[in-house]
Amino acid sequence: MSRTDNGPLRLGVAGLGTVGGGVIRLVTAQADLLAARCGRPVQVTAVSARDRNRDRGLDLSPYTWHDDPVALAGSDDIDVLVELIGGDDGPAKDAVDTAIAAGKDVVTANKALIAHHGTALATAAEARGVALNFEAAVAGGIPIVKAMREGLAGNSFSRVYGILNGTCNYILSAMRDSGRDFADVLDEAQALGYAEADPAFDVDGVDAAHKLAILTSLAFGCPVNLDAVHIEGIRHVSAIDIEFATELGYRIKLLGIARLTDHGVEQRVHPCMVAEASAIAQVGGVFNAVVAEGNFVDRVVFEGRGAGEGPTASAVIGDVVDVARGIRLPAFSVAAKDLNAIDPAPMDRHTGPYYVRLSVLDVPGVIADISAILRDQQLSIGSMLQRGRDPGEPVPVVLITHESEEAALARAMAQISALDSVVEEPKIIRIESL
Ligand code: HSE
Repeated sequence: MSRTDNGPLRLGVAGLGTVGGGVIRLVTAQADLLAARCGRPVQVTAVSARDRNRDRGLDLSPYTWHDDPVALAGSDDIDVLVELIGGDDGPAKDAVDTAIAAGKDVVTANKALIAHHGTALATAAEARGVALNFEAAVAGGIPIVKAMREGLAGNSFSRVYGILNGTCNYILSAMRDSGRDFADVLDEAQALGYAEADPAFDVDGVDAAHKLAILTSLAFGCPVNLDAVHIEGIRHVSAIDIEFATELGYRIKLLGIARLTDHGVEQRVHPCMVAEASAIAQVGGVFNAVVAEGNFVDRVVFEGRGAGEGPTASAVIGDVVDVARGIRLPAFSVAAKDLNAIDPAPMDRHTGPYYVRLSVLDVPGVIADISAILRDQQLSIGSMLQRGRDPGEPVPVVLITHESEEAALARAMAQISALDSVVEEPKIIRIESL
């Protein structure tokens, strides 16, 4: 009945963790406002979670309980499945498949699910005429999906990028503020609850890659292709690189970047040096930011909280409000059948400036040897910095290249590493011109 009358829109919430609790609290606290904005009440009618007896600080007695999220998804007491279970397969996927097949709209915060199965789910949702909305899957409370689908729909995009993982941004910001190393700050982030006990998804860049794959599809109208994302995390970023970055006028951020190039679309997640004066460099702590570059709008910058109960619930309910208003848009801006595969641009064709830190023995001729290799690979150096003077001992030497191709840089680094006077693997951080 949800489509044709002004009766309540009935939500079935699957997953009652932090976000599920937030959704129930928001719907309760904002009931009048939502009814006014939607022209009809929005109610949670049924819920499902693993443990019925866990104390969540919520009164669940008004809601029908389902032990099985798939039963919730197919039940007659709901119009919309709000999937907050997480995970790219298993109960989350089963519940979403069931809801779509049953003709129910789906709102999900599940980035892994959309990154892995987004195109197939969008195809199924469109065939059934239901919504597949996932605002909360990308950058938490920032309404970037809606912005790309709607407000920026008149633009062709050349690049979309952002700080898509708050845990990494917190760690890199704290490393910069305190001069401490990664492992030390990670321990602290875990103690404060900013990083998971198993931080791999965050610090190894996987979480950001899920979000980037979704943004890429929205920006370029291509099927979601997580496999095409080049992923590097932040474990190898060291205090000394952060110190050099500061000295050179940069900050180090883990960015997700989707960029249209002559070789196809680049999708990459890796630590970047960005100019201190750029908008993205100012975004610290657990905050996220997304920048979209469109041919008519130019550059737009969004910043906000990328996680947490309130911001994520806010994004989920934004999607619910669309359904309550009868708005159902193609999940990735264009109909799923019209998504066009675009060649992924190989990383070895990536071009840009690079930061390279070498650890070299402080002996005569070493810089000449390095320079000769760079010359032979046609790599041009913008600046060079040597720290300290310690004859016969290793000292750091930092090079900033001009715009260079990654393949040439890799060839040069292989030769430089083989020099007797170079005592560690070169540390390389891409510089993103913003
Ligand atoms: N773990 C994510 C982050 C939030 O640290 O940003 C949820 O995607």
